[in-house]
Amino acid sequence: MIKVNAIRLGVLGLVGSIGLLFSLSVLANSASPNSANQAAVAMPDGYSAHVAKQVLLQGGNAVDAAVAAGFVLAVTYPEAGNLGGGGFMTLFTPTLSNAKNHTPQTSETLPVHFLDYREKAPKAAFRDLYLDQSKNVIPYRSLVGYQASGVPGTVMGLWQAHQRFGSLPWKQLLQPAIELAEQGFTVSKELEGTAQWYQNWIANKSSTPLNFSDYFGDLKTGETFKQPLLAKTLTRIANQGVDDFYQGTTAKQLVEHMQKHDGLITLADMHAYEAKWRVPVVGQWQNRTVVSAPPPSSGGVAIVQLLKMKQQLQSQFDQALIKAQKEGVPEQAMKAHFYAELEKRVYADRAHFLGDPDFVTVPVNELISDDYLTKRSQSVLMDEISDSETMRHGKIETPETTHFSIMDANGNAVSNTYTLNMPFGSGVVIPEAGFLMNNEMDDFSTKPGVANVFGVVGGKANEVAPEKRMLSSMSPTIVLKDNVVEMVVGTPGGSTIITSVFQTIVNVVDEGMSAQQAVDAPRVHHQLLPKDQIAYNPELPAETKTALELMGYNLKKNNYMGDVQLILNQAELSAASDVRGRGVSEVFSVP
Ligand code: GLY
Repeated sequence: MIKVNAIRLGVLGLVGSIGLLFSLSVLANSASPNSANQAAVAMPDGYSAHVAKQVLLQGGNAVDAAVAAGFVLAVTYPEAGNLGGGGFMTLFTPTLSNAKNHTPQTSETLPVHFLDYREKAPKAAFRDLYLDQSKNVIPYRSLVGYQASGVPGTVMGLWQAHQRFGSLPWKQLLQPAIELAEQGFTVSKELEGTAQWYQNWIANKSSTPLNFSDYFGDLKTGETFKQPLLAKTLTRIANQGVDDFYQGTTAKQLVEHMQKHDGLITLADMHAYEAKWRVPVVGQWQNRTVVSAPPPSSGGVAIVQLLKMKQQLQSQFDQALIKAQKEGVPEQAMKAHFYAELEKRVYADRAHFLGDPDFVTVPVNELISDDYLTKRSQSVLMDEISDSETMRHGKIETPETTHFSIMDANGNAVSNTYTLNMPFGSGVVIPEAGFLMNNEMDDFSTKPGVANVFGVVGGKANEVAPEKRMLSSMSPTIVLKDNVVEMVVGTPGGSTIITSVFQTIVNVVDEGMSAQQAVDAPRVHHQLLPKDQIAYNPELPAETKTALELMGYNLKKNNYMGDVQLILNQAELSAASDVRGRGVSEVFSVP
């Protein structure tokens, strides 16, 4: 057996005796997951890590663990884990039975799948919903308050994943979340800090009064936070499944609250909501198969574009690096510039081509084809900045979200990212049901060329329309090597999700980093606009910053740049949670 890998592990008492959260390091045996019956979880908090592990130890598969953890995070990670939001799930299911009713949407040769449970615009939404009579954007209307929410998809998504691949009873999988809501969990300092910040941020931004503070205004680090209303909602969902949420008591509570204010969501919207199995983006790169999120996410297309263009230009970059280093330019600055050049092109394509595939034709295969990317990468400049103003999409011929990664002992994997959009979403809590609503409508292009809260722009492909899904950057990704999982990876972070996942994959494959090094490494981000801006986290060395400034970049330290959760299956199985968050990861044997 190959020797040991230290993994940060948070251990909880059994869910029945909640309240004790402490950290320790364990030495995990390391071997291929199948030979040593090892499984792994990389989760955004200790509660979800504990529950996902317990489900796997009880004989559940990766999808069972994802469903249980998805509901737990709706309790213990209220800034992003959500009933009132939506998300995406990428799956690799070599040994899962796939018997239950579904439309086959799998790639022809590989057992890879993608579940789109993104929110949808309410039927009453229309293109100029967020513009005033002079066609100017009404500040914050798509972000704060009752009109900021799309129709939530999470409950339908977790239900459909379970219907298709689950093996343990639905009710059993919701029990840990119900107990945590009833008995409470210990508030972390990160949660208290984000809730305080959000409370201040939403103040005076909505024309109708918000009730966020009534529910989340008093969170105190170290105190037990109970959510009895949410416990009741979860109990109804456990007993009645999706019918409660989309047609029953919860649907009525949600719609009543929306209609009492100026919200758009109706019972007809709730009844009509559907999650969709879609064909994932599949790209070949460095003898690997990268499986990631298709539209309505921009993530999969963008990540495959970045990886392939980097590979095409690698030797050109290596030569430029030798020259630059002779002139005293640090390697880190050259890499940041190289990535920014690639990202300029990718975000220009994103703004033009990407949108909901049920409404617009997105040329996914063309955008990730080697031919297209060879032409696209020809204009990359190694020693100066390409002009942002003239940067256009290519020509085709013809921070809050949360992510978790799970791999079971049979090699099945789930990569799941879901979100309310900003931390705590729209600031609206459904009073009797005790959960927060999303502010995902801001991910539409409210007006061509006007940036959303993440600073990204869009056009016709992503304009608001009834029942349309807003464009996303969420990129739950699975990398396969020799048809076995090598990486399960993803992160929150709005438009920085794409570049964080890209850099994490490159850190492992091109830079040879361990799982923990790869997720903790400094990250840089450029997204075409603001012009020539490179964001970074954590602090960069002074000489790197000086070199980038001399090239003409303006630099911005982002307080937040993702919370990557990575499972890495190379010579040994390892898992890592980003130092930037409160995540917990563990590798363990399943008897
Ligand atoms: N709400 C962030 C995203 O989906 O990209």
